[in-house]
Amino acid sequence: MRIEFVAADRTRAPKGGAVAVMAFEGGKLSWAAEDMDKATEGAVTRAIAAGRFAGKPGQTVELVVPAGLDVQRLVVVGAGADWNADAAERFAAQAFQSTRTSGSDTLHVLLPGATAAEAAQAALGATLAAYRFDRYRTTEKAEAKPSLQTVQIHTDDVKAADAAFAPLKALGEAIYFSRDLVSEPPNVLYPAEFARRVKALESLGLTVEILDEEAMMKLGMGSLLGVGQGSVRDSQLAVIQWNGAGDAQPVAFVGKGVCFDTGGISIKPADGMEDMKWDMGGAAAVAGVMYVLAGRKAKVNAVGILGLVENMPDGNAQRPGDVVTSMSGQTIEIINTDAEGRLVLADALWYCQDRFKPKFMVDLATLTGAIIISLGNDYAGLFSNNDALSDNLLAASKAEAEPLWRMPMPDPYNKQIESMIADLKNTGNGRAGGSITAALFLQKFVNGLPWAHLDIASTAWKKPSTIPTIPDGATGFGVRLLNRMVADHYEG
Ligand code: BES
Ligand code: MN
Ligand code: ZN
Repeated sequence: MRIEFVAADRTRAPKGGAVAVMAFEGGKLSWAAEDMDKATEGAVTRAIAAGRFAGKPGQTVELVVPAGLDVQRLVVVGAGADWNADAAERFAAQAFQSTRTSGSDTLHVLLPGATAAEAAQAALGATLAAYRFDRYRTTEKAEAKPSLQTVQIHTDDVKAADAAFAPLKALGEAIYFSRDLVSEPPNVLYPAEFARRVKALESLGLTVEILDEEAMMKLGMGSLLGVGQGSVRDSQLAVIQWNGAGDAQPVAFVGKGVCFDTGGISIKPADGMEDMKWDMGGAAAVAGVMYVLAGRKAKVNAVGILGLVENMPDGNAQRPGDVVTSMSGQTIEIINTDAEGRLVLADALWYCQDRFKPKFMVDLATLTGAIIISLGNDYAGLFSNNDALSDNLLAASKAEAEPLWRMPMPDPYNKQIESMIADLKNTGNGRAGGSITAALFLQKFVNGLPWAHLDIASTAWKKPSTIPTIPDGATGFGVRLLNRMVADHYEG
């Protein structure tokens, strides 16, 4: 899909394709909607009056080959009560979804009078709405395929809009990169292939090191390596660095990259197991964050660590009852081999703080089914040992509409992860508070650093999605949020 800004001209209506304009709650038309209403001698007003359209977000009215215009269709999109950059993003995304398979190949999004920032945000909205993972489809019917090839955002100042879009274009690409990783099937995207795709990001100016099993063995990463032990695919640790601020202390992001989670010997039920291809969503989000920081040349030093493994049952697989020694020196009794994400993160977090001494660490992980039970599918869980870091994350979460809810980490629950024969065990007692005991386990590996854990098992994958910027499937959750947090608090 091509996206471009063109000069808005209120004296001449666009020709051909589909045209999108807005109306606000209460029925007020935007300038462009008024222009189209005049050109069609009131057909827009009449179309709105003919139905229940009330200008609410998500509502649309479509006029096909309207007399007085030389276009295939005119879509009036509800823009809600408040006009701002977020509304512009939603408007363009909704306009895209409404015309995606309409038969029109061009969508004109009319935004005369909007600021360059709003036009740029609209371009991001259309970009995110257009995401589609169709690499493996060979027999899709022509009428089911998207017809839109080009989106033109009509704006007053094309140069200013182009400039404002540059960082958002990088963000869109980063989210696409992250969504692609999550969407790929697990026979294609195993740890070494994930590592190769991340290595290719060096073209953006990132530095990427890949540690293989031998290197991790030397570092003493018995906890991470135990998880991958039953797989014929070698485990990998990807270390990504962005240097945009000289020798400043870096910020750090750590991702769970379980390319497929069968549960291991504590095997999962067959129903829905295919979903466990997206158990690398945390690592994909961290890769996406590093992508956008490099893509927009952020003035920050950042580190991204990805623990990449496959959790398989096998004659050589880790057993319940095994004791492993982590890089931190703490020993862990494995109670359930399906609680593998925390074992991967234990060594990734310890390595991160040991080598980079960052200002803080934020980890992202599709860590527990329990977080879905706690929060449903719209909120990710936030666990942290630091209020200031939490507040920054919550503010960024609001600004980017990637909802987080802070969860408690009560000290007495630590009792649940005490082992009879080792320093720790990898599960709590039963299912109660399962996301909390998982977070408490991770906390043992941050060495007192400011740290936050985002349990994104609830938000990494959305099906069905009701958000126009998020097509069904991989969301890229976390990329926008962390990019915003860095931009607002850790640059310059
Ligand atoms: N990857 C899963 C968590 C998960 C479950 C993510 C469902 C998305 C949807 C994780 O590795 C896991 O299996 N966790 C167990 C932990 C339990 C064994 C303590 C869980 O949540 O059941
Ligand atoms: Mn598991
Ligand atoms: Zn898992």
